[in-house]
Amino acid sequence: MKRATSIFFPNLPSKIPNSLPRHVAIIMDGNGRWATQRGLPRIAGHYQGAEVVKDILRCCKDWGIKVLTVYAFSTENWGRPTVEVNFLMRLFERLLRDQLEEMQQQGVCLSLLGELDALPLSLQREMQRAINLTCQNQEVYFNVAINYSGRQEIVRACRQVAKRVEQGELKADAIDEIIIQQSLYTLDLPAPDLLIRTSGEMRLSNFLLWQLAYTEIYFTNTLWADFNREEFRKAIEDYQMRDRRFGKL
Ligand code: IPE
Ligand code: IPE
Ligand code: MG
Repeated sequence: MKRATSIFFPNLPSKIPNSLPRHVAIIMDGNGRWATQRGLPRIAGHYQGAEVVKDILRCCKDWGIKVLTVYAFSTENWGRPTVEVNFLMRLFERLLRDQLEEMQQQGVCLSLLGELDALPLSLQREMQRAINLTCQNQEVYFNVAINYSGRQEIVRACRQVAKRVEQGELKADAIDEIIIQQSLYTLDLPAPDLLIRTSGEMRLSNFLLWQLAYTEIYFTNTLWADFNREEFRKAIEDYQMRDRRFGKL
């Protein structure tokens, strides 16, 4: 699948107004439990979770949060029952198709982070179409991590950089953090300011391992399917109380 090699983000604010996060990343967890608690099949939770993503994306547009990155499917999630995996793949495909017009209207630029070549071909086609059609938009940069693994992303970056060294294009000693960073799926996007994980789990589950180095983390017991604007506002207010020291005093 073709990818952009570099993206220029012209209207990202250089300062964060009222310490609003520029980039929010979310581990959308707890859909299965949400459904089970209601005596429903797990897939019902994913269906409801998709409604929540749509609303949170609109919220980012309304509030001026420039970048939203959500974890939709990890490489480890292939280990789930086939019925659930197949349902998720079809859900992603349908969402891409149904949401394209709204994304266009809202000025959403969609990017996908992950090993996309391993996904069903019909899904890859929808992805490519949505990426091509939205790539000029600049209101909100919406990244969806799908078939994503943070470790795999770093391995892939190392391979890319090693190839450049092999070809004599780059000296090993010239490799620095910027070169590695630009070889990640997130390219020149700013690192997330805030990471939210729902459902009470307190781990990263292989998400954005490099990018989260100095991100503020917010955990909530709320299940993703119950998450909403009010919960999102709470997370942002909590973030705004933080003292981001970056190792300084
Ligand atoms: C997160 O919800 C969505 C995906 C991983 C696709 P889960 O499906 O992990 O829900 P729980 O954690 O089992 O409740
Ligand atoms: C992380 O959730 C992946 C996504 C939200 C897509 P999981 O539910 O798969 O993570 P673990 O298994 O609890 O670590
Ligand atoms: Mg889970």
